[in-house]
Amino acid sequence: MNFKEATNDLLTSNDHQKVVAAIDFMHDYYFNVTGLSGSDPEKENLRQTPNGYIVSKYCAAHCLVQHERTKRFARGIYEAAKKKVAEIPAGIRILYGGCGPYASLVTSLTQHFSSNQISLVLLDINEESIDSVTKLYRALNVEDYIEKSMICDCTSEDLSTLGEFDIIITETMSAALKNESQIPITRNLVKYLKPDGIFIPENISISAHLGEDMHIRNLNSSEMLEMGEVLQFKPQTLPSKEKIVQLPYPQTPLNYLYLLTKIVVFENEILELSDSTLTRPILLDKVFGQPEFIQFQYLEDEAPGFAIKYG
Ligand SMILES: C[S@@+](CC[C@H](N)C(=O)[O-])C[C@H]1O[C@@H](n2cnc3c(N)ncnc32)[C@H](O)[C@@H]1O
Repeated sequence: MNFKEATNDLLTSNDHQKVVAAIDFMHDYYFNVTGLSGSDPEKENLRQTPNGYIVSKYCAAHCLVQHERTKRFARGIYEAAKKKVAEIPAGIRILYGGCGPYASLVTSLTQHFSSNQISLVLLDINEESIDSVTKLYRALNVEDYIEKSMICDCTSEDLSTLGEFDIIITETMSAALKNESQIPITRNLVKYLKPDGIFIPENISISAHLGEDMHIRNLNSSEMLEMGEVLQFKPQTLPSKEKIVQLPYPQTPLNYLYLLTKIVVFENEILELSDSTLTRPILLDKVFGQPEFIQFQYLEDEAPGFAIKYG
């Protein structure tokens, strides 16, 4: 297999084993070039900032080998890029916030578009990730796709001097949008999207469910009772930071409260429950007694996540 064949399999193959082999091939290639492996995500701790936790470069590299996540995101981005390139043959601009050490969600594009068709602005808060991605693009001989790469905090940096973008991508999240800065980053970056531009992911929705203790049974959504949606996050119509959602508490013996995440990357490329670690069920609380309702509020602070109140 060569690099171009691997990107072909990642973006188009219907054979799951081929997709897994392609991603693993890319990981070996990226590791050889950058010296940075994704095999040991726990090697360094998370770092806390006023807007959430930042994963280490090892953990960011590890995202590549979360096969279903990488496949869905890479394919969604490929489809979005094809659509925009068809509309704007003179070339499109893509901003990637939190690109990590391999810019894994866009690097395949360099094998399927020319550098006149797409140009990339790559941003990460971690200097070593920007150094690594620079090394990688040099080794692949695709440096000319990079319009700019820079270290920056995407939650707050004023990027107005960079102009507007046709596609903006960020994947800075974990299940139920816990701890990381996906929402604060999206709030800042979406300002730089052209009016008809595409933000990826297109939508993130989180719903509350009641179930049994996850340790007793291997839960799937059909065994849970859905209470309702607690967050719908479309970049172009952002909910206010203060929004509180109140859901009535049903009559049920199930008393473990879970959050389930669904991610619409772009059009038909969707991550559903347990397709990936980003969409695995998150246990929020064990409910005692029979409350009338639960209120949910997503807090965008130094440890983002849902706060709940019973009534
Ligand atoms: C979950 S990793 C994903 C890496 C890569 N996007 C991928 O999908 O493989 C998140 C990345 O976002 C970066 N990041 C987190 N918070 C950031 C912020 N506020 N500004 C810029 N980059 C950030 C981290 O350093 C890390 O590289």
